[in-house]
Amino acid sequence: MIHVVDAGNRHLYGAELEQHFRIRHEIYVGERKWMALARPDGREVDEFDNEHAVYLLALENGRVVGGTRLVPTLQPHLMAEVFPFLADVRGLQRGSDIVEWTRIFVVPERRGSGSKVLHTVLAGMFEYCLAHDIAAITVVMETWWMPRFLELGWEVRPLGLPALIDGMNCVGTIISVSEEAYRRTLAFKQIEAPVIRPRRQAGRRAPGERRIPHG
Ligand code: COA
Repeated sequence: MIHVVDAGNRHLYGAELEQHFRIRHEIYVGERKWMALARPDGREVDEFDNEHAVYLLALENGRVVGGTRLVPTLQPHLMAEVFPFLADVRGLQRGSDIVEWTRIFVVPERRGSGSKVLHTVLAGMFEYCLAHDIAAITVVMETWWMPRFLELGWEVRPLGLPALIDGMNCVGTIISVSEEAYRRTLAFKQIEAPVIRPRRQAGRRAPGERRIPHG
């Protein structure tokens, strides 16, 4: 199940969020070798990990197995601040109903065609957007995602020409949020809806959920 963590409930997810920052460091710095993100404390955190960020975390018995981040496009975000040239044909897309999507990951042992984790996070993203009247998602992505998204039946439009960034072929795109995209993402791996778990409340834990020690 996907847990939505935002400024309003992040105090209830201290351990899981911390775990997620450390996994991001292992994956983006350790595995993908994006060395600009390396930090001596082993936490991958950037300027967009602020009070506006919304995290979708895939948790299995309190363990983070996947996740991603959404940032409102009316706030500073990666495409606007760092890669505006990736939107040089259609222009930066900003609005109260547009979010930017970054930092999608699945832990190595839960990846691959036999796993549902990635598609559960993707379905969770659409479920969240549909529930919050978000019409579109922008993303700075490597071009190898394009056939994967098209295979899922998503409407994906480039905002500019692809560019080589640190040896990676990247493109700025906008993805339409629709019931159809949500439904097809669920169906691709026969995932049952809803995937987002009800909000965690202070003093309560979901049945079967373990408490993770801080530290
Ligand atoms: N470059 C090119 N293709 C890639 C890729 C990469 N870095 N990572 C995944 N793919 C494509 C490949 O086609 C791969 O199939 P292959 O193993 O036969 O080459 C396919 O996606 C499946 O990827 P896989 O990693 O087996 O499983 P998944 O679909 O469950 O998870 C990710 C995909 C991207 C979520 C996972 O690989 C991951 O967490 N990677 C590290 C984080 C990351 O790079 N995120 C994207 C940028 S924010």
